[in-house]
Amino acid sequence: MHAWKCETWGGPRHLKQGSMPDPVCGDGEVEITVKACGVNYSDLLVIAGRSQVKPTLPFVPGMEVAGRITRTGADCGDLKTGDKVAAYVKYGGYADKVVAPATQVAHIPESMPASIAAAFPVSYGSAQLALERAGLASGEVVVIGGAGGAVGTACIELAKHRAATVIACVGDSAKEKVALACGADETVSSRSRHLQDDIAAIAPDGVDVVIDPVGGRFFDDTLRCLRYNGRMIELGFASGKIPNLRLNQVLIRHQGVLGVSFGLTCSKDPQRIARMWPGLTELIEQGVINPRVGRSLPFSELPRALQLLQDRKVAGRVVLT
Ligand SMILES: NC(=O)c1ccc[n+]([C@@H]2O[C@H](COP(=O)([O-])OP(=O)(O)OC[C@H]3O[C@@H](n4cnc5c(N)ncnc54)[C@H](OP(=O)(O)O)[C@@H]3O)[C@@H](O)[C@H]2O)c1
Repeated sequence: MHAWKCETWGGPRHLKQGSMPDPVCGDGEVEITVKACGVNYSDLLVIAGRSQVKPTLPFVPGMEVAGRITRTGADCGDLKTGDKVAAYVKYGGYADKVVAPATQVAHIPESMPASIAAAFPVSYGSAQLALERAGLASGEVVVIGGAGGAVGTACIELAKHRAATVIACVGDSAKEKVALACGADETVSSRSRHLQDDIAAIAPDGVDVVIDPVGGRFFDDTLRCLRYNGRMIELGFASGKIPNLRLNQVLIRHQGVLGVSFGLTCSKDPQRIARMWPGLTELIEQGVINPRVGRSLPFSELPRALQLLQDRKVAGRVVLT
C-alpha cells in the first residue's frame, strides 16, 4: 500500500511517501480503504518522538480516517464490508488502507462526504468523553479552550446539545467566527493578558467546567475562574507548556482536576468507546454534529498540513483527501 512513513524522529518535513506492507486484519478488526484522513495536533508529538508511548521506527503515522470497510475479522458486531465509516487508529492512518479495532469504528451517514467524516472520530470521541467526565449538566457554564480548533469546536457543539452556556476562548477573528457558528454564547481572546477578568466579566459567579486542550497560561487563568464544585478537564497542552498545580487551590474551593485520554480509554475500556458511536452517528443525522473542516489538502501535502497546525493557522480540522 501507499503511505506516509516516519523513519526518523523530527518535524513534518522528515516524513516520506513510499510503499509499506498491507496491514493484516485480525479478529475484532476491520480493514478500511481510506478516502480521507484527519490531521491531528498529536501527530506532531508522535513524529517528533515526544508522545508518551513511542512507536517503533519506521511507522506510518495518522490516527483518524474515513472510508469504506473492505474486510472484516470475526466478532465485528454490525460492521460489514461496504459500510461507510470513520475510525480512530493509534497509527497507520496516512495510508491507502488501515486496520482498526471494531470498537473504534463509527458508521457515517451516506450523505456525509468522507472529507468531512475524517474530521469526526477523534474530535467528537474526545469531546464526548471530556463532557461525560466533567458531568456537564444543563444550565451549567463551561469555558472551552482552543475553541476554534478541532476538539474545541466539537466540545462547543456537544456542550450546547447538553444545554450548557458556552464561553469560547479563541485566538483570532476567524476562529471566533467558527466558534460562534458552532453555537458558542460568548467568546474571549486567548491572546488577552486579562483572561481571568474577561471571563469574570461574562460569568461573575464563576464557571462550572473548563475544558483545557491548551495548558500553560490558559490553565492558570481559568482555574481561578472555577466556582465551588467546579471541574477542570485536562485534554492536552497545545501551548507546549504543562502547568503546575498548587493543590491547596483545588481543596479550598472544593474543585476537581480530571485528565481525559481518549486513546487510553480506547484500549482500557473499549466497550465504553464502542457504546458512544451510535449516539454520535445519530447526532450527525440530526444535524447537531457538523465537523468543521478548515482546510482540505491533497494526500501529498501532509507536511504542509502539519505545519499549518503547528503555526495555529487553521480553524477546525485539516483534512487530506
Ligand atoms: N486527551 C485526549 O484524549 C485528546 C484527544 C484529542 C486531542 N487532544 C489534544 O487536544 C489539543 C487540541 O487538539 P486539536 O486537534 O483540537 O488541535 P487544533 O485544532 O490545532 O487546536 C488547538 C488550539 O489550541 C490553541 N493554542 C493555544 N496555544 C497554542 C500554541 N502555542 N500552539 C498551537 N495551538 C495553540 C489554538 O487556539 P487559538 O489559536 O485560537 O488560541 C488552537 O486552535 C492538542 O493538545 C491535542 O493533543 C487530546
